[in-house]
Amino acid sequence: MDKKYKVQVKDLHKSYGSNEVLKGIDLNVKPSEVVCMIGPSGSGKSTFLRCINKLEEPNSGHVYVDGYDIADPKVNINQVRQNIGMVFQHFNLFPNMNVLQNITLAPVELGKMSKDEAKKAAMHYLDIVGLSEKADANPTKLSGGQQQRVAIARALAMKPDVMLFDEPTSALDPEMVGDVLEVMKRLAKEGMTMIVVTHEMGFAKQVADRVVFFHDGNIREQGTPDQIFDHPQHPDTKSFLNKVLNV
Ligand SMILES: Nc1ncnc2c1ncn2[C@@H]1O[C@H](COP(=O)(O)OP(=O)(O)O)[C@@H](O)[C@H]1O
Ligand SMILES: [Mg+2]
Repeated sequence: MDKKYKVQVKDLHKSYGSNEVLKGIDLNVKPSEVVCMIGPSGSGKSTFLRCINKLEEPNSGHVYVDGYDIADPKVNINQVRQNIGMVFQHFNLFPNMNVLQNITLAPVELGKMSKDEAKKAAMHYLDIVGLSEKADANPTKLSGGQQQRVAIARALAMKPDVMLFDEPTSALDPEMVGDVLEVMKRLAKEGMTMIVVTHEMGFAKQVADRVVFFHDGNIREQGTPDQIFDHPQHPDTKSFLNKVLNV
């Protein structure tokens, strides 16, 4: 385990039955680094993200977050998870609570903040995602893009030091995608450590410090956006990019 990394993954293997989905993944993420993960559907990207906060149990290998080995039974996984924000394709806001209540729920319930502190934090992050005026709204009355931005504010309100995004814009109507990506760009600029699974190649090109190409349970190739998008080396990377960039 190396303290200079926020997230360190070593030789991670994960199988479902006889289906080996992750075949030995190594990845180190430095503080404030933005890593975008691209690759075909079924290549293991979501499974990988879920292993990082132990929503999935790896078969072997190591995952360290903030220096804690999350496979170590002595490590309090709930404590570690509080520092990992996760945003999925589907936002799962509670429909019976307003936006503010959705955001303050976890910090208060988990004893991380008093009600007042949580409310202050919620308003701060709603401002960051551009939705201050929606604090009292019911989430079901918001557009998909607005709901996803609330979900991002909800994750941020826990003051995580790593944010994991799993295709946060892929369920949105096209006109909603830009606002969500803008919020993510802002987080990146402000120094948040981020691992982002995305099909938004423009975003990856512009925002990623490093692009990681997943293929068949392996990291086939990784590098700067320039290396991956403009000078891919591996035939699998070239073939994938040809498909998604339609060139
Ligand atoms: N809970 C699960 N049970 C069994 N198989 C799964 C489960 N989750 C994912 N898989 C399988 O793992 C492989 C990788 O899936 P996933 O990580 O979702 O890929 P990606 O996010 O890159 O599309 C697929 O073959 C998928 O069917
Ligand atoms: Mg996926």
